[in-house]
Amino acid sequence: SLVRGIKGLDNLEKALSTYLNIKNVIIITGDIDSDPFAKEELGRVAALNLDKIIETVKTIAVTGGNTLAEFANHIVSENIQDLLILPARGGLGEKVEIQANTIAAKIADKLNASYRLLHVPDHMSKSSIEQLVNDPYIAPIINLIKQTEILIHGIGNPLEMAERRKLSLEEVDNITQYDVQGEAFGYFFNKKGDIVYSSPSIGLNINDLGKIKNVIAIAGGKSKALAIKAVTKAGFIDCLITDEGAARSILEIF
Ligand code: G3H
Repeated sequence: SLVRGIKGLDNLEKALSTYLNIKNVIIITGDIDSDPFAKEELGRVAALNLDKIIETVKTIAVTGGNTLAEFANHIVSENIQDLLILPARGGLGEKVEIQANTIAAKIADKLNASYRLLHVPDHMSKSSIEQLVNDPYIAPIINLIKQTEILIHGIGNPLEMAERRKLSLEEVDNITQYDVQGEAFGYFFNKKGDIVYSSPSIGLNINDLGKIKNVIAIAGGKSKALAIKAVTKAGFIDCLITDEGAARSILEIF
């Protein structure tokens, strides 16, 4: 539109799309780090974007986080038949308001869609995880998650995520030692986009991402510039919805 053209956001979108090698980049005005209106706008624009594709799919998986919660808040009520909303991973240790389960249920409620949840305790041992993954009730849900057509996820700053999810000192050591710069659905990435640590959890696995038709990341704020860059390098994101603060910082255009 004219307004966006004048503000140069179309050019910024093109530049970021090329720089990060992501097909589809949407940038909203402002910086969510400092502007609460921008934070809402990011959620609103992401919800509008979902509205455009929702009729073409049967399953959507979502992660947790404040950004995804804002996105869920802005989804407009609809009556969509035959749509299943799923949490991408469970048991990451987030507070209930911003857990993937909560966000999946909220989105399903707004769209009149169905949902399945992953009831997983936080900080499980490897052996409990194995048991859970093979549980006759949980295994089919994990299967559905692995076959999702759309994944919508947030991107986090590693140390903030470690603190928020109360990871152990050992785990934090792991994170700092490898110069981790970004987090998404419990996986931690270095600046080359390699996974250097993953939270013990169940649900979507990094190897499932290649099969997902449309992976949409929603993340903004100058403070997430490095995190966005790192996670993007992993190469699985098809669409990035972000803000000017993050975009300018990534491109070093101020
Ligand atoms: O899962 C958490 C996200 O990676 C980032 O969370 O939206 O609260 O910053 P956030």
